[in-house]
Amino acid sequence: MKILVTGGAGFIGSNLSDRLIKEGYDVVVVDNLASGRIENINPKGRFYQMDIRDKNLSFLFEKERPDFVSHHAAQIDVRKSVAEPIFDAEVNVLGTINILENCRKYGVKRVVFASSGGVLYGEVEKGKKAKEDFPTRPISPYGITKLCVEKYLEFYQETYGMNHVILRYANVYGRRQDPFGEAGVVAIFIQKMLKKETPTIFGDGSQERDYVCVDDVVEANLSALSKGDNCKLNIGTEVTTSVQELFLQLQKIIGFTKEPNLTQERPGELQRSCLDISKAKSLLDWAPKKNLAKGLAETVEYFRKGSDI
Ligand SMILES: NC(=O)c1ccc[n+]([C@@H]2O[C@H](COP(=O)([O-])OP(=O)(O)OC[C@H]3O[C@@H](n4cnc5c(N)ncnc54)[C@H](O)[C@@H]3O)[C@@H](O)[C@H]2O)c1
Repeated sequence: MKILVTGGAGFIGSNLSDRLIKEGYDVVVVDNLASGRIENINPKGRFYQMDIRDKNLSFLFEKERPDFVSHHAAQIDVRKSVAEPIFDAEVNVLGTINILENCRKYGVKRVVFASSGGVLYGEVEKGKKAKEDFPTRPISPYGITKLCVEKYLEFYQETYGMNHVILRYANVYGRRQDPFGEAGVVAIFIQKMLKKETPTIFGDGSQERDYVCVDDVVEANLSALSKGDNCKLNIGTEVTTSVQELFLQLQKIIGFTKEPNLTQERPGELQRSCLDISKAKSLLDWAPKKNLAKGLAETVEYFRKGSDI
């Protein structure tokens, strides 16, 4: 079976590509290296350095004829989406439509889409978890594009019978996450602490997030190649951790002794996000296996070595 992984040079896409290759899939990667890295690409896959907006993508589909497409390429910077909403929509919406049109023309059996439970749902009250039917209230252009693509997938399913699975990720962390980006607090904290620099916490650090390890996200993606037809599925852990608590856990693992810099909270930031994953558990026959303590320890080890474990 052949699978095209868009964004396969990035954090999640490259971890997924490695696993797919291990499972015996024929993997094709498309990435323009906007934030992805060439060294992340598995040499056993075929790499095309291309933009998902490129009209010539049709030649790639014609040549490769993938059975599945795992769509991970995106402009992922929320702040950039606010500053440059046109660029954000060009990549995340028009680029995706370019992919979907090719999927339709070349008979792709299934598209798995990397959506975001972290940005689609609004505030989730303490003690509660957002199920997939929780009201969607994206508050950034980035979040709006994720919702918009979900609607396009429904359109392609209803109109052309093209199957999809929408995976709404919580906050993903793990090896190869960019420690220099705007998002990815785990990678940012680890990188700073290892360099003995003081990480910054925005607000009082009481914001809670559902942190899921990339290894578990990869497993969910594998299941989604044969299960969960035309469903939206939350992929998280149902466990929330405050930024302050995350800081303390990493401090302990790394042996970092300084206190964090506290600065003003970022406007529009949610106080709490937590995903209900019962639907993914039952439809994908999947459950997260790595708890935060183990996942963080492995991620620290990865960054300490400065390369793959
Ligand atoms: N990391 C998270 O916590 C998280 C949470 C929810 C959803 N997601 C989604 O998962 C996907 C992967 O995210 P990630 O964290 O691995 O980010 P990432 O930035 O590491 O990966 C995105 C990849 O897409 C590539 N790309 C960007 N624009 C492109 C374009 N125009 N053409 C071709 N390639 C392009 C980048 O070079 C990069 O390799 C994204 O769609 C993101 O929105 C991530």
